[in-house]
Order: sequence, then structure tokens, then C-alpha cells
Amino acid sequence: MILKGVDYAPFYSICKEIIINPKYKSMKTYIAHADVSVYKHSIEVARYAYGFAVKRKIKCDLPSLVRGALLHDFFLYDWHKQPKFTFHGFKHAKIALYNAEKEFELNKVERNIIESHMFPLNLLHFPRYKESWVVTISDKTCALKEIFKRKRKK
Ligand SMILES: [Fe+2]
Ligand SMILES: [Fe+2]
Repeated sequence: MILKGVDYAPFYSICKEIIINPKYKSMKTYIAHADVSVYKHSIEVARYAYGFAVKRKIKCDLPSLVRGALLHDFFLYDWHKQPKFTFHGFKHAKIALYNAEKEFELNKVERNIIESHMFPLNLLHFPRYKESWVVTISDKTCALKEIFKRKRKK
């Protein structure tokens, strides 16, 4: 979602390093919700989180906010094809963090954004920074929009 009055140029330059990564691009082949790929969902969550923080003038580390948001679902598998009861909801944040640390240099804010984005599902990983709160809210908002958009199309 593009918000009026928000300059997205800094957002796109922060995204560059991550979205050119081949493993990152492979998320285009995995579905997140409805018919939206994990790649598209992740960029949408990052764009929403960036717009949310800029529009509300939340003083925070925008590059970390965007990078953490882009990588929050970097789990790299098709969760729809997983056997039942593999607890994707609980486990994928940890897997995303493991994969992200292999590909990118992360700071503590980015790490917390990824591991806590499913809050309150995993109470062991609490959002400790403003950036983490913005991303966990943005993720839920975008996921609901994706699901309901699909339902309306039917
Ligand atoms: Fe997730
Ligand atoms: Fe997500």
C-alpha cells in the first residue's frame, strides 16, 4: 500500500541489497496467503511498515525496520506442502532468522523483528523495539488484507 505524502525513495534504496539476493528471489515461488507469494507479501509488509512509521512520525531506525520486515518470512519452503502438525506458525520465524543470518549481516533490531513477528503466538520472543512492534502489526494487517481480497474476488 502506498500512502500519500510519504517519500518511498529511501525505502527502495534500503530494499536493493536484499531483493537482488537469489535466495530472496526464490520466495517468488512460495505462496504466503491466498494467491500472494512470500516475496510479494514480504515486500508489502516492509512497504506498509515503512509508510506506517513515516506517516506517524515514529522515531525509529528505518533501515533496520525495512530490512527486518523484508526478512521476517525468509523461511524458504512451501508451508502448504508441509505435513500436518509441523507447527509452521511457531517455527518459521526461527528458521527465517537462521536463513537470514547466513545471507546477510543483521543487527539486534533486525534479529528481534524476525524472531518476534508472530507475537503473541510465540511468547518466548517478545517484540523488544518499536521497529518490531511496527512490523508485527504490519504483518498481521497485510496478511488479513491478502486473505480478504482473495475472498472478495471469489
Ligand atoms: Fe510469518
Ligand atoms: Fe508474514
